Amino acid sequence: MVTSDDVWQSELEAAFSLPTARLQSILQFFLGEMERGLSAADQSSSSSSSSSSSLKMIPSFVDSLPAGTETGRMLALDLGGTNFRVFEVVLKGDGAVAARHNKYKVSDAHKVGPAEDLFGFLAECIKDFLVTSGLPLDETYVLGFTFSFPVDQTSINSGTLIEWTKDFTCTHAVGRDVCLLLDQALRKLALKVRVAALVNDTVGTLIAHAYQDTKTVAGVILGTGTNAAYVEKVANIPKWHGGATKTDSMVINIEWGGFDNQKKVLPVNKYDASIDAASGNPGVYLYEKMVSGHYLGELARLIFLDLATQGHLFAPRDRVSVKLHTPHSIETDFLSLVESDTTADLAHTKKALADQLAIATESPKDLQTVHRICHLIGLRAARLAAVGVAAVVNIFLF
Ligand code: BGC
Repeated sequence: MVTSDDVWQSELEAAFSLPTARLQSILQFFLGEMERGLSAADQSSSSSSSSSSSLKMIPSFVDSLPAGTETGRMLALDLGGTNFRVFEVVLKGDGAVAARHNKYKVSDAHKVGPAEDLFGFLAECIKDFLVTSGLPLDETYVLGFTFSFPVDQTSINSGTLIEWTKDFTCTHAVGRDVCLLLDQALRKLALKVRVAALVNDTVGTLIAHAYQDTKTVAGVILGTGTNAAYVEKVANIPKWHGGATKTDSMVINIEWGGFDNQKKVLPVNKYDASIDAASGNPGVYLYEKMVSGHYLGELARLIFLDLATQGHLFAPRDRVSVKLHTPHSIETDFLSLVESDTTADLAHTKKALADQLAIATESPKDLQTVHRICHLIGLRAARLAAVGVAAVVNIFLF
């Protein structure tokens, strides 16, 4: 006999199911999008016409990787998620690096306010780092800027912001050169800091690892957002018109978070559609919204809320939990805590529900349902991430 529980449970399983055959067809589509993104027809990385690829495949202007023997001292910035980091980095010449850094929290106001305020804040943090590290303010410094958003790179140290992702939506930034914005903010503080390189975090990860291991060919980020960069042959980049290169290779920023914006192959369910509609960038970056840390906790919350509202999950007193009704109240670590819970009575799951949602359920069925939901979300994210990794690996195999 089919019970009402069977019905909603199988609907949920179906909404997150991604069998191998489906993954293979997604992979084939991914490979095609990579090729189209490099083609001459896809001239501008910011192009969003219906014929352009959903993978921007942005040439990074990085045409050689470190040998591991380089030496020097420079500043480095890392902007892209919850925190902004300022580093002083010393390359020792034997693949080893010494670094110290300060971490600054980027406020919600800075993520959504005018770009000038955000870049002004970045310059203030750089000044604070110099002061607290005992580095003279009147000296000249060179700086590498890791900026983890889609940028149409125009040289190694310039590039215009194509669009914001994650939860950044600052005004007057899209279409502007982010290095110029930083430079202007630094000048206002009379700091003599020169931006020598602008890189995506995936490109920075690739380069940093190549300094330790010269066989490195790709960098992958699975964090607040997701993306990858890899080393491509210039001959395979028909759209490259950036002039002569030092080698026959070029690091490409795939910007895979935007994969299949056309929704041709991604299995978008009603929860994904809600996440997308409420995001700062609706209609795009759906792959990122199914895979990366900024969204997975919220996906779990939306499913819990839906099942609770239908009377399938939690006791009536728990269904009115304010946190259950508050967007982004669940951190992504909730999923890791629950997924790794191997206790017979799901004690860690119970604790996570109490800590993060103020839900004090003792019901084994509730706990098992929550455990299963987290597993389904994590498994689908892992499988989709594996498609991207497989596509990059494929380049080096064939
Ligand atoms: C951005 C990418 C970045 C990735 C990981 C995405 O939202 O579009 O440029 O590499 O996040 O930080």
